[in-house]
Amino acid sequence: MNAPIRHADAFHKLIHENHMYGLWEIASQMTPQPRPEAIPHLWKWSLLERVVEQSCTAVPVGDERRAMQLFNPGLKDQWATTSTLIAAVQVLMPGEVARSHRHSPSAIRFIMKGNGAYTAVEGEKVVMREGDLVLTPSWQWHDHGNETGETVVWMDGLDVPLAKALDCIFFEMYRERQVPATKPVNGSQAMYGHGRLSPTWMTQVSKISPLLLYSWEQTTEALRALRDRDGSPYEGVALEYTHPQTGGPVLPTLGCRVQLIRAGERLRARRVTGSAVFCVAQGKGRTVIDGRPYDWSKGDILALPSWALHEHANTGKEDAILFSIHDRPVIEALGFYREEALAENGGHQHIS
Ligand SMILES: [Fe+2]
Repeated sequence: MNAPIRHADAFHKLIHENHMYGLWEIASQMTPQPRPEAIPHLWKWSLLERVVEQSCTAVPVGDERRAMQLFNPGLKDQWATTSTLIAAVQVLMPGEVARSHRHSPSAIRFIMKGNGAYTAVEGEKVVMREGDLVLTPSWQWHDHGNETGETVVWMDGLDVPLAKALDCIFFEMYRERQVPATKPVNGSQAMYGHGRLSPTWMTQVSKISPLLLYSWEQTTEALRALRDRDGSPYEGVALEYTHPQTGGPVLPTLGCRVQLIRAGERLRARRVTGSAVFCVAQGKGRTVIDGRPYDWSKGDILALPSWALHEHANTGKEDAILFSIHDRPVIEALGFYREEALAENGGHQHIS
């Protein structure tokens, strides 16, 4: 944030001492365009893997989860990966349970490694497999358990910085380790996991998707079906995960997207208001952000601040798939959405 210019005469001393500033002293904060303090940052899987391995012996799963929070280097010790989103890498070893709690920030999980562990949401076990998206919406009790023989790793995504900025954070531990399982396993998928076919007798519609599991199998099937369409020149074959009853975003504060960038494809540069965090699900590529290249491969996590000019390219031999979380639902609801494509140089940035 641009610090105010402090004028030092008697009048200005009077207003400063009494918690006032002249608009002329802070005018530089009304910037011609967004200037986020968050910066682009790439966490490589080679590093995350080391952290994941060491975390298994370094920290137990106690009352808190074994979740390494990705702090944006530009945001100086704030619990934030971008100005509105926090991403983390969470690890659950065989036999472990992460105790049930609930909080007003909403969360998603994108499963990076391991199959068969579960997240329980309000008494429903949701079995998680690699590439699955699992929702734990605002204020719903949730715990995680791993009854398999392998360690599981997932990316958490939450709207914590936004909830914090709005002073809306509530948190509560459940009185026991787990909420009793009272609902069928993967019950939300059985009820709502049929695309645009929604049960008519379920008349209650909330802003939160009632579908808690978006399976990788369905996701890749959709991507495969659309692979040969033009797609977006900026995003490739990009799909938004949607609320099965409304077609809107999965959560009111946080959207999820998956995009396929075909082998050899180089997308064009654009900037949008709102931030995102990408997790590489498959393949290799390069994202150029504000002229700087970030080379990524499977398991890497990339923070993209608001209004940063960005373009993705596939630099490998197979199709690349990026999963991402974004704050577009908030930006659009508030009327702040803008986008601007790079017109010059064929829509590609010069690398600085
Ligand atoms: Fe949680």
